[in-house]
Formats: sequence, C-alpha cells, structure tokens
Amino acid sequence: MADDDTLLARIDDYIEDLFTPGDEALQETLRAADAAGLPSINVSPNQGKLLYLLTRIAGARRALEVGTLGGYSSAWLARGLAHGGRLVTLELEPARAAVARRSLAGSAPGVDVEVRVGPAAATLRAMIAAGEPPFDLVFIDADKPSYIEYLTLALQLSRPGTVILADNVIRNGLVLDPPPGDASAVAAAAFNAAVAAHPRLESLVLPVMRQYVDGLSISIVTS
Ligand code: SAH
Ligand code: DHB
Ligand code: MG
Repeated sequence: MADDDTLLARIDDYIEDLFTPGDEALQETLRAADAAGLPSINVSPNQGKLLYLLTRIAGARRALEVGTLGGYSSAWLARGLAHGGRLVTLELEPARAAVARRSLAGSAPGVDVEVRVGPAAATLRAMIAAGEPPFDLVFIDADKPSYIEYLTLALQLSRPGTVILADNVIRNGLVLDPPPGDASAVAAAAFNAAVAAHPRLESLVLPVMRQYVDGLSISIVTS
C-alpha cells in the first residue's frame, strides 16, 4: 500500500472534496465504529457515494448487503433507497451488528434497516427458504473466500434487472497474478472470472482508487 500523498490519494481527496462533503450522521457512524474498536475497513467516502448513486440510478426500493461492520456502507445504501425502502444487512459478529444498529437508527430516516447476525451464507439460505422477495440491489463485502457462494445465493434472491456489486476485487493488482498464500486475492480472481463467465450476468469491474487501486464489480442480472 502506498503513502497518503501519492497521486492516487491526491486524486481521491480531490474528488472527495468536490463531491462527497462531510455529512454529520455519516461521520458519526465512522466515529462510533472507531470508538468501538472496529477496524477501518469500511468503504471510502467516495465509494460510499458511488454505492448511493448506483442505488438511486437503479431506482432500488429493497437492498441487501453482505458484511455490515459498523454500518457505514449500509448508511450510504439506505440513503440511496426510495423513502419507505428496506435494507437487510448481514453481519457475523454480534458486537459489530450492535454498533451498526445504533448508528443506522439515526443515519437513514424513512428506511427500514434490518441487521441480521450470523454466518451470511446460512442467513441467505434461511431468507431463500422463507420466500424473501427479490432485492433490487445487492452489495457483497464480507469474507472474500465466500464471494462466489454469496453470489450464487444472491442470484436466488434476484430478478432480471437486479444490480449485484462486490467490493475489493482488484486488491492493488494482486488479482493479476494472485500469490497462492493470499486467500483473498486468489478468491477475488476466481470471483471475477466467475462473474465474467456467468450466463445470468452482464458485468464489469470498475477500478476504484484509494491510497491504492481496488475494484468494485458491477453486474446486472439478465435472466
Ligand atoms: N461493508 C462494510 C465493511 C464490511 S467489512 C463497510 O464498507 O462499511 C467485512 C465484514 O464482514 C466484517 O464486519 C466481518 O465481521 C463480516 N464477515 C466476515 N465473515 C462473515 C460471514 N461469514 N458472514 C457475515 N459477515 C461476515
Ligand atoms: C478488508 C475488508 C474490506 O471489505 C475492505 O474493503 C478492505 C479491507 C480486510 O478484511 O482487510
Ligand atoms: Mg470492502
């Protein structure tokens, strides 16, 4: 990972200053996560703005997130939903879910947010079995080795037109030639290949810069 004053970081800051001015409730969500000792592995403000815009562009009313942490990306997604919308976000660790629930109570008025605790694959299977209606947008951002499983399950909670997004799929270029010992890089490369070849998806990976280059996969469910 590069220093904070690299060209990439300066461009990211430039975009953030112009387009993603600080919002008190969103900043409080990050402060609360920090105060609770959660790791700073949330999306960046510019990535959050991108999630918000994609949610609005999709006209989404129902969104699903896999990997809540302190609820920062959740807040951006929730704000992109139409008033009266619903966000279901899945988190393994109860302490993280509790932090997210507290923050989300104040950061997304008019949106019904449910944080569900447990291993996401099991929660997704339970939702499928319970007949959960399809989501308009899905954001995958939990443990990287499970991404293909989450995609397979998310497709069972989708309809033609559903947007499926996944974070951290470039890993500063490690996916070009993934080191065999880096399970996340190996998994991200496999995920990208699976998405590219998937008969039910049209997709692209969008490089995303922070202090380093990562990527967001963007797919639309075609059938
Ligand atoms: N989307 C968040 C960041 C998520 S970090 C944001 O940008 O603000 C990834 C999260 O996935 C962590 O909080 C981790 O606890 C959770 N996670 C890891 N394995 C999981 C699993 N099997 N099921 C559900 N959540 C999981
Ligand atoms: C990690 C996870 C993320 O989702 C992310 O965006 C950055 C880092 C991590 O587990 O280190
Ligand atoms: Mg991420």
